[in-house]
Amino acid sequence: MKAIEIRNKYLNFFKEHGHTIIPSAPLIPENDPSVLFTTAGMQPLVPYLLGEKHPMGTRLTDYQKCVRTVDIDEVGDNRHLTYFEMLGNWSLGDYFKEESIKMSFEFLTKELGIPVEKLSVTCFAGDEDCPRDTVSAETWKKAGIPEDHIYYYGKDDNWWIAGEEGPCGPDTEMFYDTGKPACGPDCQPSCDCGKYVEIWNNVFMEYFKDGKGTYTKLKQKNVDTGLGLERMAMLLQGKETPFDTEIFKPIMDKLEELQKVDNIQSRRIVAEHLRSSMMIIADGGRPSNIDRGYVLRRLIRRMIRHMNKLQIDLSEIKTLIEINVNNLKEMYPELEKNKETIISVITEEKDKFVKTLAHGEREFNKEIEKLKQEGKSKIDGKVVFRLYDTYGFPPEVTKELAEENGMEIDSEEFDKLFKEHQEKSRMGSGQKFKGGLADQNEKTISYHTATHLLHQALRIVLGEHVKQSGSNITEERLRFDFTHPQKMTKEEIQKVEDLVNEQIKRDLPVTCEEMSYEEAKKSGAIGLFTDKYGDRVKVYTIGDFSKEICGGPHVTHTGDMGRFKIKKEESSSSGIRRIKAVLIKDN
Ligand code: SER
Repeated sequence: MKAIEIRNKYLNFFKEHGHTIIPSAPLIPENDPSVLFTTAGMQPLVPYLLGEKHPMGTRLTDYQKCVRTVDIDEVGDNRHLTYFEMLGNWSLGDYFKEESIKMSFEFLTKELGIPVEKLSVTCFAGDEDCPRDTVSAETWKKAGIPEDHIYYYGKDDNWWIAGEEGPCGPDTEMFYDTGKPACGPDCQPSCDCGKYVEIWNNVFMEYFKDGKGTYTKLKQKNVDTGLGLERMAMLLQGKETPFDTEIFKPIMDKLEELQKVDNIQSRRIVAEHLRSSMMIIADGGRPSNIDRGYVLRRLIRRMIRHMNKLQIDLSEIKTLIEINVNNLKEMYPELEKNKETIISVITEEKDKFVKTLAHGEREFNKEIEKLKQEGKSKIDGKVVFRLYDTYGFPPEVTKELAEENGMEIDSEEFDKLFKEHQEKSRMGSGQKFKGGLADQNEKTISYHTATHLLHQALRIVLGEHVKQSGSNITEERLRFDFTHPQKMTKEEIQKVEDLVNEQIKRDLPVTCEEMSYEEAKKSGAIGLFTDKYGDRVKVYTIGDFSKEICGGPHVTHTGDMGRFKIKKEESSSSGIRRIKAVLIKDN
């Protein structure tokens, strides 16, 4: 079964079981500087898992585009991917363990046709925070999973939380037996020898873990599930790796055709990083030296290095992109829509990197000359690091060139320096995330504050069901997406505009306080609750009018922002309205 068929079957199955299909959120969380990329289907749903009402109801399903960057260096083996698609279904205070497990069992065995004997499941063993999950185990047994295919594990395996703090709970995981021989008498699902592959995770989210590590019960019992699409496609197609499925096959074949040196790892790296980069660019990401942009830059540069390893002419990049667009456009129409941008962003980055490599090589040669004169054969870690840090010259290239010159590099010293550098930049990016919007100036800051005023005004005029579902700011305008079932009337638009302008005239002070996420919630602050990924959140208060969780920055007083004018009110997608508005400085 092809990946797209699995996706469609999944969404239809859950639709038939009363779920509303919601669109994938973008890979880049809008105006949320606290996380780099969307990493799980639950991430955009956090406010609703915590009890806010979702406009589409209490049963939801979607496919979510995800990027996980911890694994970049692992890509090239037979399973790691940085970009992947997660299929998910959610109960927001609706059904719980039994119904969730019954649906999963039916989907796996009936819809996907997986024989029961290929399935094993794991449940939470229980500890001082949460009792043993016998309900899940019993339900699996009743559904038809034999007792000796049901395992109990502790928090390390059967507990799910995004990061350190937030909604969480015990989970039950489903494993597929690949049929490979057991690695020993103790081989079981928790073993990573490759016999058992995890295919689906149902989290029973009824707890909240705070910054101190204390668990409290959430307002409602939720279910959050996640099924990795590429992996499922691989298993159902009886393939060894996701690179052998139709998702990667055309690009892998082309790379094999173009390569002059055979290297399967490099082909996988090029194929994977190209797809990830294209998905990130299609969702608005651009290469840079910080944060998200840096991840994208690393992906593109690593891809190029491996194209060099395969000795594929870099001018083939355009052809490779075109192959991916054609192959993936049915799954991701945004790739076709943004094809030209994708080509120009990647090509430009390639050109820069080629220059970097040439520059670095010149510096390297100078170093080599010096060492030769001194009669040395080992390149200092400091030198390797300087080439990397100042010229962007990758250490593995330095190593290769050194070897060609009959020399070696001091990897140990380099690793030490590199680690120190990583620590520093991690701290730096932590600081920055607290600081807020990447691209900030007087205009964008005013628009940012205007967005808060608009959000609150909409809630007053239309009702409290209004929730931000997206926001985008440029120097020229703000764009705000929010949940509301119908078109706004002229009168409503006028009222919202007046209300915002009134607050601007009142010259309200804007203050910011840092507090724990729980305190923020208690204080009645509204906002996208995704900031929970940091330890503390910032709450911005605008006079007596608005209180919202946000990374900032904002103006200090509303007085000088200009006159607020709504230019357009239109539909964005089903149940979501979009407002475009400007601030006009009259003088
Ligand atoms: N949030 C869980 C996961 O990422 C289930 O979707 O595995």
